[in-house]
Amino acid sequence: GTTFSLSVSAASSTDIGAPGTADLPWSELGFEYRPTKSHLRMVHKDGKWGEAELVESPYLNIHIGATALHYGQACFEGLKAFAHNDGSVYMFRPDENSKRINKSAERIMMPEIPTDLFIQACNDVVKDNIAYVPPYGSGGALYLRPLLFGSGSRIGLQPSDEYTFIVLVVPVGDYYKGGLAKPVDGLIVDEYDRAAPLGVGAAKVAGNYAADLIPNMQAKKKGYPICLYLDAATHTKVEEFSTSNFIGIDTENKVYVTPASPSVLPSITNKSLQTIAKDNGMTVEIRDIDVAELDRFDEVIACGTAVVVTPIGSLTRLDENGNEASKFVFTEDVGKMTRSLYDQVRSIQNGEVEDIHHWNFKV
Ligand code: PLP
Ligand code: COI
Repeated sequence: GTTFSLSVSAASSTDIGAPGTADLPWSELGFEYRPTKSHLRMVHKDGKWGEAELVESPYLNIHIGATALHYGQACFEGLKAFAHNDGSVYMFRPDENSKRINKSAERIMMPEIPTDLFIQACNDVVKDNIAYVPPYGSGGALYLRPLLFGSGSRIGLQPSDEYTFIVLVVPVGDYYKGGLAKPVDGLIVDEYDRAAPLGVGAAKVAGNYAADLIPNMQAKKKGYPICLYLDAATHTKVEEFSTSNFIGIDTENKVYVTPASPSVLPSITNKSLQTIAKDNGMTVEIRDIDVAELDRFDEVIACGTAVVVTPIGSLTRLDENGNEASKFVFTEDVGKMTRSLYDQVRSIQNGEVEDIHHWNFKV
C-alpha cells in the first residue's frame, strides 16, 4: 500500500475539504464496512510510539505469532464525526475514548496512548477521509474505530513486545434498521454470560465480543435483534446489551435508571445522556436493577455510539424449552423521553444547538 507521512499541523475548516463528496448513497447507509481513502497506523516498539502514517491499503502484514491473534490481546474504541450545516466537521468526545482505551489497554497489559496522540490520530484520519463524512442532513456519521493490539510474537502466555494502533473509518447510518422510528425487541440471555464478575466486562477488549457472537446470532434467528445480558453470578440483575448500555425510564416520575454493575462497559453515550437528563431536571439513578423491576419502566433504551438511542419495544425471557416465560412490554411507539434524549444528543452532534458541555472537537 501507499504510505504518506503524517502532517502534524492543526487542521482548520478551510483546508480540509468538504464532507460528503464521495460517491455514496448517504441516506441509505447501514452499519457495514465500506472502503474509504485511508486508515492511520502507528507502532509501539522498544518502549515508545513511532510515527503515525496514513495508509491506503486496508490490509496489514502481521506476524503469525502475534498475541492479538492467539491470546486476544486487543482492544478497540468507537466514536463518530459529524458534519455541521456549514461544512465543518466535529468529533464527539474523543477525549473520553482516549481515557477508555487506556483503561482497556492497561487491563490487558498494553501500552498507554497519550491523549494528545490519540486525538491527533483521530483528527488526521478524519481529515484525510473528509469526503467520506456523511453530509449534514443525511443522518449519517463517520464512525471511527481505533484499534490497539499486540502485534509482536509470543508463544508462551506473556504480553507482546510490539503493539500496533490503527484508526480506521467507515461512513455509517443506522445500526438497527429503521433507526429511532422502530422499537427493537430484545431477548434476555439466560444460557450465556457476557462478562464474569471480576473479568474484563468493563474493558472494551476483543474477547468480550467473541463471547457474544453465539447468543447474538441465536437471538437474531429467534426474531430478537438485540440481547440483554444479566449479571453472571446470579442472573437476577440487568447488565447491558451486546453493544450498548441499558437505560430504564420512569416517565411519570422523570427517573433515568442505569445499572451500577462493575462488569458493564462505561458508555460515553450513557454518560452524555445522563448529563442531558439532569439538565432536563430528571433524576439519574445508577444502581442495581432486578429483572422483575423491568415491569416498572415505561421506556427502555439501548444507548451507545453505534446504536445511538435505540428504543426497546419489549424484552422476552424464555424457559429451558425455549417457550416464552415472561415478556416485558414497553412503549409501542417511540417513548417521549426516548425521543427527547435522542433529539437532544443528536442536535448537539449536528451543531444545531449550543454545545454547552464542550463535547464537540473540531477537525
Ligand atoms: N456497551 C458495550 C458492550 C459496547 O460495545 C458499547 C459500544 O461502544 C457500549 C456499551 C456503548 O458505549 P459508547 O456509548 O461509549 O459507545
Ligand atoms: C460502538 O458503539 O462504538 C461499538 O463499539 C459497537 C460495536 C461493537 C458494534
